[in-house]
Amino acid sequence: MATTSARKARGAFYTDIRVARFLVQWAVRHASDTVLDPCFGGAVFLSASLDALSRMEGDVSGTVTGVELDPETFGEVQELLKAGPILPRLVQGDFFEIAPSLAGSFSAVVGNPPFVRYQLFSGRVRSNALSLATRLGVRVSKLCSSWAPFLVAATACLREDGRLGMVVPAEIAHAGYARPVLDFVARSFRNTTLLTFRERLFPALSQDTMLLLADGKRSSDAAGSGYGRLEWLDLDGPADLSAARFTGFPDVGGERVEPEALVSGTLRFAEQFLPTQTRGLYHELANNLGVTRLGTVASVGIGYVTGANSFFHLSRRLVERYRVPERFTRRAATRTASLKGLLYTDGDWQRGWERGEPSRLLYLTDGLADVPGGLLEYLSVGVADGVPSGFKCRTRHPWYRVPHVSVPDAILTYMSGQGPRFVANFAGVVVPNTLHMIRFHAWAPPAMAVAASFQTSLTQLSAEIEGHRMGGGLLKLEPTEAEQVVFCSEGPADGAHFHAIDGLMRERRLHEARTLADETILVSGLGLSRRECVLLFRGATELRERRRKGRAPIGAEGRSGEDRADT
Ligand SMILES: C[S@@+](CC[C@H](N)C(=O)[O-])C[C@H]1O[C@@H](n2cnc3c(N)ncnc32)[C@H](O)[C@@H]1O
Repeated sequence: MATTSARKARGAFYTDIRVARFLVQWAVRHASDTVLDPCFGGAVFLSASLDALSRMEGDVSGTVTGVELDPETFGEVQELLKAGPILPRLVQGDFFEIAPSLAGSFSAVVGNPPFVRYQLFSGRVRSNALSLATRLGVRVSKLCSSWAPFLVAATACLREDGRLGMVVPAEIAHAGYARPVLDFVARSFRNTTLLTFRERLFPALSQDTMLLLADGKRSSDAAGSGYGRLEWLDLDGPADLSAARFTGFPDVGGERVEPEALVSGTLRFAEQFLPTQTRGLYHELANNLGVTRLGTVASVGIGYVTGANSFFHLSRRLVERYRVPERFTRRAATRTASLKGLLYTDGDWQRGWERGEPSRLLYLTDGLADVPGGLLEYLSVGVADGVPSGFKCRTRHPWYRVPHVSVPDAILTYMSGQGPRFVANFAGVVVPNTLHMIRFHAWAPPAMAVAASFQTSLTQLSAEIEGHRMGGGLLKLEPTEAEQVVFCSEGPADGAHFHAIDGLMRERRLHEARTLADETILVSGLGLSRRECVLLFRGATELRERRRKGRAPIGAEGRSGEDRADT
């Protein structure tokens, strides 16, 4: 039985039978079709393909091929399928090595590629993957997850006119590194449809997923000359996949999306979920003179990385017990939940410290010559607990020196349940990488004005559009995404308004805080009508509810980020 970490390293999360049957039903249409699953895992796609072809009364022998990397999984499936009437052709090995020998061979490729993040996607498989994608003309970034080159290699295994039916992570439509892959797919097929789901397809995954239906593989000349048609269709959940509307294959009746706009990032996929009127208003405002993208006035970066927050973040109890002098620490805001209002003050920090929160970063910049005995003892406790051998600590020297520690002008939440919070750093604290650091350029508005503007319906909607949903229902804003978020940079709102909004937020009267921010910043400042504010508010609420729907169950992988968020 494979361990969870071994499964994670291979991206071994198996597909719901309804989803697999649907993809096979869509992709396999004729008795003469030949089918490939490039990473068959539990063989759900192979079995569904054999079933589908048998029902068409074709000669099934030799028509279905499966590849799998893991020898143990391969052996189990081989044993299992031996008992059946027909054995597909099974190949054990790395698909990236095998794919060139299968190029142009199949009429259908179906499956669920491994989603292995770049930190774990390593070694020979990764170098095979990147060089194969490059040979196929797609320059995928080194930061890509394994599904991206998988999709490219899978497409190459199709003959002209072939179909690709695959599970893909939602990041295909929003991640920067996925753009060359989306570009490649949209060019390689006459029709590509992305199916999105309000319910989550894989409740145990921390990522959000979609289905990709790509039909009519084009010749490389045609692919080079421009895009095919790209469509999007939103469904409730896997139960919808058996609905009668899909009997009219290949046309599933989706909404048209401009591939150029999606590939260039000028269109964010989340906008598809908004009513046309709201989408229009948002675009109009984003181009308004009084509205600015955060990246125009500030840079957004990640906070410091300790490698072991529980060791490096000290509570008052630890500081007293090991008599750690203040000069070896920096005051830190370590929790999203402690950022309650528009500003973070000395008083906020002090209250957290008194409550016993770990709010000092252990900060040793020089050697240990000056370090008192108590702190040396604390370091030896860390050594005994194996802190120096953790990934980040073992790759820096000395292991206890946390690099890149500096004081940001403001702090932005990275993961949020309700919506992001932008907080002016009045306490001069440093922040870890669970929060973002904001550094203003010279010509920026006051931090508190930006913080107040972040509470408006316009900016909350913008964050839902520019950020992306994690499997656990949280909104994640990567630094590049955060820099695209728009806020109102002009207006009559003043200190008194800011303090009123701050007070409401601290009392958790978030709806009132939003209404006051909309009234003072959007209506009085930008000249929006109340009806327009309501449109923006509804748009933000709709996107938020959509992403929070079907959150991961407790204990599932997707929960990890929730501890950091303001759920
Ligand atoms: C997401 S699972 C999908 C399994 C199965 N197709 C399903 O949907 O239930 C991904 C599978 O890909 C396999 N895999 C990972 N890297 C691979 C590679 N380079 N070549 C072939 N298979 C690979 C994993 O072992 C795992 O079984």
